[in-house]
Amino acid sequence: MQNAGNIDCYTGRDSQRGWAMQRLKIDLIAAARPNFMKVAPLFHALHGQPWCSLRLVHTGQHYDANMSEAFFRDLGLPSPDLHLGVGSGSHAEQVANVMLAYERACVEDRPDLIVVVGDVNSTLACALVGSKLWITVAHLEAGLRSRDRRMPEEINRLATDTVADILWTPSPDADENLAAEGVAPDKVSNVGNIMIDSYELMRERIQASGERERLGLAEREYGVVTLHRPSNVDEPAPLAALVAQLTDIAARLPLVFPVHPRTRKNLEAFGLWTGLADAPGMRVTEPLGYVDFMNLVCSARLAITDSGGVQEETTYLGIPCLTLRTTTERPITITEGTNRLVTAADLKRTVDDILDGRWTHGRKPALWDGHSAARVADDIRRRLLGAGNRVAEDAAVVETSRRHAMGHV
Ligand code: UD1
Ligand code: UDP
Repeated sequence: MQNAGNIDCYTGRDSQRGWAMQRLKIDLIAAARPNFMKVAPLFHALHGQPWCSLRLVHTGQHYDANMSEAFFRDLGLPSPDLHLGVGSGSHAEQVANVMLAYERACVEDRPDLIVVVGDVNSTLACALVGSKLWITVAHLEAGLRSRDRRMPEEINRLATDTVADILWTPSPDADENLAAEGVAPDKVSNVGNIMIDSYELMRERIQASGERERLGLAEREYGVVTLHRPSNVDEPAPLAALVAQLTDIAARLPLVFPVHPRTRKNLEAFGLWTGLADAPGMRVTEPLGYVDFMNLVCSARLAITDSGGVQEETTYLGIPCLTLRTTTERPITITEGTNRLVTAADLKRTVDDILDGRWTHGRKPALWDGHSAARVADDIRRRLLGAGNRVAEDAAVVETSRRHAMGHV
């Protein structure tokens, strides 16, 4: 890793104060839906800091308005400074195309620090570009492991953490995973869960969204469904089994199901769309923006999902979560939260358990508190600018970033 002594800072001039200053050039990489909620809090915490300048990079992995633009709007993000426009493709195509485009961007204007988030193909691609160009790479949401190498995300997590110089973890299990893999402890900082920062930044808007009322759903009398993992939706038999269970459950508990484009494409291709969409009690919708989606989650009786983010959000909110997977890289949502892994065959019985009041209440994991971006900002300064340890729960930083996200500054 580069240290403060050889970082290629550039000299900028602060237009208001008129004095020359060193600024660290930071690239924030966003690519796909779950990334936007991880990048936004950090953008708002770092924006306007006199010691850094930001370049917001969108690789274009997700591109539909309701998978990308809507999140920039909801989360108060400006248009990206750089859009790589990569789009869909096979894993090799996607990783290779992001690498080619992002390498060119780094050679033209070299950042001092690249921050990648999560576990999507673009995360890995940009981390590889940075490490080969000897640019410091930091991974936000490092150390999570499902131990299922058939998940494309597990390969992305392992490879990204191997090349990253700074590893920001969300929970102690992630620290333990990295230690077991031989990662030097001084590379790792537990900063808490950045997704919770987005929720806290947007809490007022989420509460005021009115999406639940628009859909005619009564508080705690419906479930929210999301599905997009290839293991659930790419083959006809597992997807048909899930559709059968969900249509059955919807007859007892209304379900709202914002359908991911991968899932929609397959439901249509396998002839399952009409049966699902027309089932009594089932509301299928387009993918929702963050604020409307979280408004639904907040008042739901339960969630049925295979999403990483939804497992975390429901734990934070104390909403029962049924995860249609055999493993999770987020075990703390089970050991401390409200999550449980289930199969399609178990789904209906488990929903009955919840409706009959048999479920654990859970608690909020440590450092899932809306202050993760402030901790990351402090960690960057401490590691790269040699600034002394500041108190991470700096109320001023948190308040300024909240106001910035809401468009007040
Ligand atoms: C990707 C991530 C996954 C993440 C998910 C979040 C990888 C390997 N996968 O999966 O980890 O959980 O995003 O949602 O990086 N499509 C559209 N419009 C879009 C985006 C995608 O129609 O805006 C369709 C295309 O047909 C595309 C398919 O969805 O081929 C899959 O998109 P892709 O980004 O490759 O994978 P996801 O399933 O979205
Ligand atoms: N989400 C949303 N609208 C939707 C579905 C999901 O805003 O219709 C948000 C939600 O906050 C969730 C996040 O997107 O936590 C993660 O998205 P996804 O499930 O696509 O990705 P994963 O977390 O599984 O990688």
